[in-house]
Amino acid sequence: MADMGIVVKDLSFSWPSGEIAIQSCSLEVPQGEFWMLLGTNGSGKSTLLRLLAGLLAPQAGEIGVLQPVGFVFQNPDHQLVMPTVGADVAFGLVEEKLPTAVVRARVEEALGAVNLNALTLRPIYALSGGQKQRVAIAGAIARRCEVLLLDEPTALLDPDSQLDLVASVRRLVKSRGITALWVTHRLDELNYCDGAFLLEKGCLVDQGEPERLKQRLMEVHQEAS
Ligand SMILES: Nc1ncnc2c1ncn2[C@@H]1O[C@H](COP(=O)(O)OP(=O)(O)OP(=O)(O)O)[C@@H](O)[C@H]1O
Ligand SMILES: [Mg+2]
Repeated sequence: MADMGIVVKDLSFSWPSGEIAIQSCSLEVPQGEFWMLLGTNGSGKSTLLRLLAGLLAPQAGEIGVLQPVGFVFQNPDHQLVMPTVGADVAFGLVEEKLPTAVVRARVEEALGAVNLNALTLRPIYALSGGQKQRVAIAGAIARRCEVLLLDEPTALLDPDSQLDLVASVRRLVKSRGITALWVTHRLDELNYCDGAFLLEKGCLVDQGEPERLKQRLMEVHQEAS
């Protein structure tokens, strides 16, 4: 059996109100693969991702995620905290207390991995949405993340930057053996992944081949319209 980057067994999570968000969910993402998480609004995608990242604690079940984990939010303005590109990527390394030369080398390498070396000194406010998402991803690469969790990272991007971003995450996954789980509503992004999960009302109802899931969801969209 392949090594797993993410393993979830019988995971359940309810909000303090008693509302069930995740119900007996089990899934596995093999190490070095790029999987997507699909589902309608409110089906529990963001909750599941936050559980995987350790931002929420489950009431039942088991979670195994290779460490360290990187998280990329839908809105990069909620994530980027420093004034410039290079400073932001370096900021994520503060906890590791590395020598300055190592920090500099890691930042340079991570920005190179997302094609942003030329923008190291650029202020964050002067970046496009797609460039901001790349800075967030560079932060995870600099920290040597084994697992990358991305919650609708293309939601605020135009179609060209959207497909650029998904293609570059695929390249990173394949060239570095990172395991990635990407939440999306956009079916055209499914062309880039190795497999996908479908959530409905907190339950995992389908998983596997991206093409088959895409067909299934297109039929649902047609019936709805
Ligand atoms: N902080 C919270 N407190 C209480 N309930 C919440 C909280 N966040 C989300 N929920 C509820 O949990 C359920 C799952 O929400 P979640 O945000 O995980 O869905 P989602 O699949 O990410 O939806 P979307 O596609 O709109 O992002 C929803 O019913 C939502 O209202
Ligand atoms: Mg969400």
